[in-house]
Amino acid sequence: MAQDDGSPRIAAKPGETSSGQAGPASGVGSGADGGAVNRALGAAVGPGPAAAGPEDPGPEVRAVTEVVLPGLVEPSGLVVRTATRSAPGPGQAGVRVDAAGVSFAEQGMRRGRYPGQPPFPFVPGYDLVGTVTEVGAGVDPALIGRRVAALTKTGAWTTWTVRTAADLVPVPDEVDAGKAETVLVNGVTAWQMLHRKARVGSGAAVLVHGANGGVGSVLVQLARHAGARVVGTAHPRHHDRLRALGVEPVDYREDGLAARLRAVAPGGFDAVFDHLGGESFRRSFGLLRRGGTLVCYGTAAQVDAGGSVLLQFVRIFGRLAVRTVLPNGRSATFYNLWGGRRRVRRFRRRLHEDLSEVLRLLSEGVLTAHVAERFPLTQAAAAMELAESRTVLGKVVLEPQRTR
Ligand SMILES: NC(=O)c1ccc[n+]([C@@H]2O[C@H](COP(=O)([O-])OP(=O)(O)OC[C@H]3O[C@@H](n4cnc5c(N)ncnc54)[C@H](OP(=O)(O)O)[C@@H]3O)[C@@H](O)[C@H]2O)c1
Repeated sequence: MAQDDGSPRIAAKPGETSSGQAGPASGVGSGADGGAVNRALGAAVGPGPAAAGPEDPGPEVRAVTEVVLPGLVEPSGLVVRTATRSAPGPGQAGVRVDAAGVSFAEQGMRRGRYPGQPPFPFVPGYDLVGTVTEVGAGVDPALIGRRVAALTKTGAWTTWTVRTAADLVPVPDEVDAGKAETVLVNGVTAWQMLHRKARVGSGAAVLVHGANGGVGSVLVQLARHAGARVVGTAHPRHHDRLRALGVEPVDYREDGLAARLRAVAPGGFDAVFDHLGGESFRRSFGLLRRGGTLVCYGTAAQVDAGGSVLLQFVRIFGRLAVRTVLPNGRSATFYNLWGGRRRVRRFRRRLHEDLSEVLRLLSEGVLTAHVAERFPLTQAAAAMELAESRTVLGKVVLEPQRTR
């Protein structure tokens, strides 16, 4: 991974980090000097004074170490740099990042194939667990010192960030930050697909593709907790661990997958969760029983496909709509975590409710966190390579406060 140490300094505007947009490539000093970085950071991120009001946003800046996706690169092309960020403005909170996730989304982003991603360069990082270090005007100072989670989409691969305070969700103190990290985007996605889209109840038969994946490994547990019978496709290297979670594993690699799944559930499935795309959506739909629902939520098997991403999704939505209106007694839908976000209050309320519920289940031991491996932030390239290796169960986690 590159260390960017030759370009001008970032002086981000308040709130700039909420999109992860990094501005012109910049960097001061070497991210390799974790000690120096942390000394600078230690001075900067303590619970300092609250930011000034809107009429005076204040010149205060905080030193951060962050990882930048500079363009269309392999994981080794990620850049570590130090930069400065402004103190939180009105309605915002400064958060020391204790854990940040490596998600499948970054695989799309580094190929320029994630719908709606910011222009390069930007700081990736879909979600984080952190501790509030300071707050801006209008935010309750009691938040300082609280453990929180945030879904960021981009911007979480940093040591410190500014977020809208209303978007922060409390994380139970007793839960390890890295473990909590495994159920943020993955947990909300799994929970909402299961309970808000497919409405899976006790006794239902459910098929989860990619049962070892970040989303899949949470989804199978939530479905089991809801009382469903769960069949999960996965590479055989994960089958024992999936069986331990109460999942009936099926190898996705061999021929005749549809026939083998039909043999496992001759009456069909009440719900199928498919993030693979293309031919898999068609096959999954064919495995539903009457009244069943196919929930599509990704195109992971097509991450290297060429062509327009927009057209790809137009085609998907068209086909799903056709399948649903045909008189076949089955339905198909596409789940999007960010769907409905324009209705901000409702979106936030649901996100808070659902994430809080998943975190509660984790803290009570109903859910088991699967941390595939933990890396310091400066090793984001190695973390991403592992996440892309197609060998892991669960989630690869970055720990930005670790120097090695
Ligand atoms: N719609 C939404 O709002 C939303 C939200 C979150 C995530 N997602 C999507 O959910 C999907 C999973 O994300 P994640 O973070 O859980 O990813 P992940 O941890 O990398 O897991 C990916 C899973 O997909 C399997 N997989 C990948 N490529 C495959 C292929 N060609 N054939 C068969 N299986 C394949 C992997 O199996 P192996 O390990 O055997 O390769 C693994 O089980 C992604 O497509 C992501 O974009 C969507």
